[in-house]
Amino acid sequence: MVKILRGTMNKHRKGILLAGGSGSRLYPLTVPTSKQLMPVYDKPLVYYPLSVLMLTGLQEILLISTPEDLPSYRKLLGDGSTWGLSISYAEQPSPDGLAQALLIAEDFLAGHPSCLILGDNIFYGHDFTACLSKANENEKGATIFGYHVSNPSAYGVVEFSSDGKVIGLVEKPTQPVSEYAVPGLYFYDERAPALAGTLSPSSRGELEITDLNRCYLSEGSLQVELIGRGTAWLDTGTHDSLLDAGNFIQLVEKRQGLKIACLEEIALAKGWIDKEQLTKHVSSLGQSSYRHYLESLLQSPAHFLNQLPT
Ligand code: DAU
Repeated sequence: MVKILRGTMNKHRKGILLAGGSGSRLYPLTVPTSKQLMPVYDKPLVYYPLSVLMLTGLQEILLISTPEDLPSYRKLLGDGSTWGLSISYAEQPSPDGLAQALLIAEDFLAGHPSCLILGDNIFYGHDFTACLSKANENEKGATIFGYHVSNPSAYGVVEFSSDGKVIGLVEKPTQPVSEYAVPGLYFYDERAPALAGTLSPSSRGELEITDLNRCYLSEGSLQVELIGRGTAWLDTGTHDSLLDAGNFIQLVEKRQGLKIACLEEIALAKGWIDKEQLTKHVSSLGQSSYRHYLESLLQSPAHFLNQLPT
C-alpha cells in the first residue's frame, strides 16, 4: 500500500503522463512498440518525464496511451509501488490531441489540480526542480514554460509585447512570433477538464493544448515561466534527436557517475520508499549497470542523495 504524502495545498496536484500517438516519425522503430518506450541510453524514454512528475512531488499519476501499447506500460511500471507511486492507466483510442488528455483524466483528477507532461519530453538542468516547485505552488490558473530554441516553428510559441508581456500563444507558427517554444509540461488548476470540454478540434482535427492554454491567457490567469539556458529541454521526435538525447544522457552520466531520471533514487530521496524496499527491487534487475548503480546507492545513500535536487 503506497502512502501518499500530502503537501500544504488545498487539494494536492495529480500527474498525467501522455504517452500515446502513432510515433510515425520514428518508423520503423515504432512499428512494434510505443515511441515513449524507446531507449534513451540506459532507460526507456518514459522514465524521464515520469522523473519530472516525481521531482515535482506528485505520487498519483495517470498514464494515458493507446489500447495496443498500454500492456507494455503496465509491464514496465505496474502499479508504481516500486517507486512509492500510485500509477493508473487510461486509453486514448486515437491521437485526437494533447488537450484530450484532460478529458480522459477527468474522473482520475476528481476536482484536483494537475500537471500534464508529454511522454517524449526530457528536461535536465540546474535549478529545474526549483522551477517545478514554484509552478506546483501556484494554485490559481495555469503555469506553462518558455524555452529559447533555434527552431520555434516546430512548437507552440509564446508571443510577447515590446515590454515583455505575454500577449499570445501560437501553435507551430509559419512566421515565428518569438524564439520561445512551449515545452510539453503544463500545470493546471482544477478547471482544466471543464475548459478542455469547451474546445473544438483545430484544422488538423486535434484538441490543441495551445487552445487550452489560450483559455487561461484570455482570462489573465496564465503564468509563463522562462526556463534558462542552464537547463536542457530535449526533443526526441526524430531519429537524430532521439540519438542525440541518448548521447547527451550518456555523456553526463559517465562524466558525473550519477544517473539522470533514476526513479528509485528520487523515490528514496523523497522518503517514498526505504532501503529495504529498494533492496528487494534490485534483485529483479538482472545484471545491468542500472542495478549496479542502485547497489552503490544502497551502500552509501548519503553520497548520492546529497547530489539530488529534492
Ligand atoms: O513538445 C512540445 C510541443 O508538443 C508543444 O510545443 C506543442 O505546442 C504541442 O502541440 C506538441 O507539439 P508536437 O508537434 O510535439 O505534438 P505531437 O503531435 O508530436 O505530440 C506530442 C507527443 O504526444 C507525441 O509523443 C505523441 C503524443 N500524443 C500526441 C497526440 C496528438 C498523444 O499521446 N496523443 C495525441 O492525441
